[in-house]
Amino acid sequence: MLLLTFEGIDGSGKSTQARRLAAFLREAGRDPLLVREPGGTELSERLRAVLLDTRSNMHPMAELLLFSAARTQLVAERIRPALEAGRIVICDRFYDSTTAYQGAGRGVADPAWLQSFHRRVTDGLVPDRTFLVALPPERAQKRREAKEVPPDRMEAEADAFHERVAAAYETLAREHPQRILRLDGRRSVEALHATIRADVQTLLRAHTGTAAASTGSSEC
Ligand code: ADP
Ligand code: TYD
Repeated sequence: MLLLTFEGIDGSGKSTQARRLAAFLREAGRDPLLVREPGGTELSERLRAVLLDTRSNMHPMAELLLFSAARTQLVAERIRPALEAGRIVICDRFYDSTTAYQGAGRGVADPAWLQSFHRRVTDGLVPDRTFLVALPPERAQKRREAKEVPPDRMEAEADAFHERVAAAYETLAREHPQRILRLDGRRSVEALHATIRADVQTLLRAHTGTAAASTGSSEC
């Protein structure tokens, strides 16, 4: 019914918000599907393992295609069926990640080419709302370090890479003001959640006055 995606650099706090939103929707009596990218299907999780393994030696174009292959499979196998069944789908990352990381970070393809490529990859599926959790790269790095988990292949990239990714997200937010809601990631978990929750409630009212009525829920 609604596809909501979360974006941001590693350590920005977007997975925390994706989980928090899913919990809120469950408490409100809905049955959201929460998935992450790359991942969410058997093939996509196998691709994730290869993509994030620091031992993988990968050409940037191979990386772009593997992230995209994982996405095609996730959309076909899980996201489309869930949307068709009337569920809200929350996806932790989607094609904006490819534009930011492979497009700007690696410099492997230009935004215009990527935009039409993403349409092919997702068979035309576009998020109804994208929440961009924006955090300065140095703050995000501090949060990653605090987790004390060894960096994966993407996290291990140089500071300049993460700065290009963060700048690309800012450009995306400016170019797609209707779809992308930029949030200040320096705010507290609960303050961010309150903004996201209010936006989703508005979206649901606008998009599915009918669906809200059919679940008997006026909460979300
Ligand atoms: P991401 O999914 O963007 O990599 P996470 O949601 O895993 O980020 O959060 C990274 C770290 O920052 C976690 O330890 C998390 O508890 C913490 N964190 C998340 N959101 C906030 C916030 N708003 N303020 C402070 N710390 C946060
Ligand atoms: P993950 O552990 O999910 O990171 P995070 O918790 O920060 O979301 O790892 C996903 C990594 O893959 C992350 O560094 C971003 C990167 N990525 C791309 O480079 N391109 C993509 O298209 C996607 C979906 C992710």
